[in-house]
Amino acid sequence: MIDGRSMPEKSLTSFDAEAAVLSDAPRSDAREATPPRPAPPRRAILMCAPDHFGIDYIINPWMENQIGQAALPRAKAQWENLRGKLAAHSEIAFVAPTPGLPDMVFTANAGLAIGDTAVVSRFNAKERRPEERLFCEWFEAQGYSIAPWPENVPFEGAGDALLDHARGIVWCGYGWRSGEEAPKHLERIFGRRAVALRLIDPRFYHLDTCFCPLSGGWLMYYPDAFDIASREAIRAIAPVEKRIEVGEKDALSFACNAVEVAGRVFLNACSEDLRSRLLDAGFTPVVTPLSEFMKAGGAAKCLTLQLPGAASKVIPRG
Ligand code: ARG
Repeated sequence: MIDGRSMPEKSLTSFDAEAAVLSDAPRSDAREATPPRPAPPRRAILMCAPDHFGIDYIINPWMENQIGQAALPRAKAQWENLRGKLAAHSEIAFVAPTPGLPDMVFTANAGLAIGDTAVVSRFNAKERRPEERLFCEWFEAQGYSIAPWPENVPFEGAGDALLDHARGIVWCGYGWRSGEEAPKHLERIFGRRAVALRLIDPRFYHLDTCFCPLSGGWLMYYPDAFDIASREAIRAIAPVEKRIEVGEKDALSFACNAVEVAGRVFLNACSEDLRSRLLDAGFTPVVTPLSEFMKAGGAAKCLTLQLPGAASKVIPRG
């Protein structure tokens, strides 16, 4: 159920499955004993308000020396800015923030949802394991069918599994958080090819910190975050004219941790060079500074989970 408390203003587009049921359900039998099922999932972006955000522990290199250093009022303003910009182009859904779970704001790690199926994360980071139940309840309440996941395979959701709409494949990162076996389970569950990429730089510990599939088959990424075989795999799938390879400076500003909506690419920072390459590719870069969240090792993409919706299924290739 969408949490009303986390909605900063009334005018927000919401994602209320119960309301959808009320308006869409057949009216024929009011005495029906079984309660109506939630409506099928709709296309939206899931966010979690930073009410309880903070840096309370260290589970990635960005968090080192940052315990207690996030300025909450600034974090809230930055998150609100991102939310407002995204809400102009997409429906936004909310999961309730929970005390004691400072990283829950990074909803990319809730799981992976495609169509009406969701896999809930199995966090490698034990500090984040209590989030699993809350995200699971959220997916269930929205009508997703939850695919069972093996107990012993770590998987940190859309932080490490990115749907490439143009190719119908899922790019998967492993090595720091998600396990090497995660891609084959995703392939089985979603019936799409999963391309496994090994991450080798601890600063880029989730795939979405260094890799961003964009519409039209474009790919923005930081090659040095991957081992040689993975770089070759990327280049074999994405032709040179579709690759936007970024340098270390943009990568360290989490330029690849971007959210694309309606041709706009929302990101924490962007060099002039990257800006012009994105423009040449037909995208409009929109800078939304997220310095407080960078201290926890996350930026725009980490703060969102794309819910592609039941209607956007792509036929897998190859
Ligand atoms: N502090 C969080 C963690 O280490 C940041 C998560 C960022 N999320 C992401 N999808 N990259 O888990």
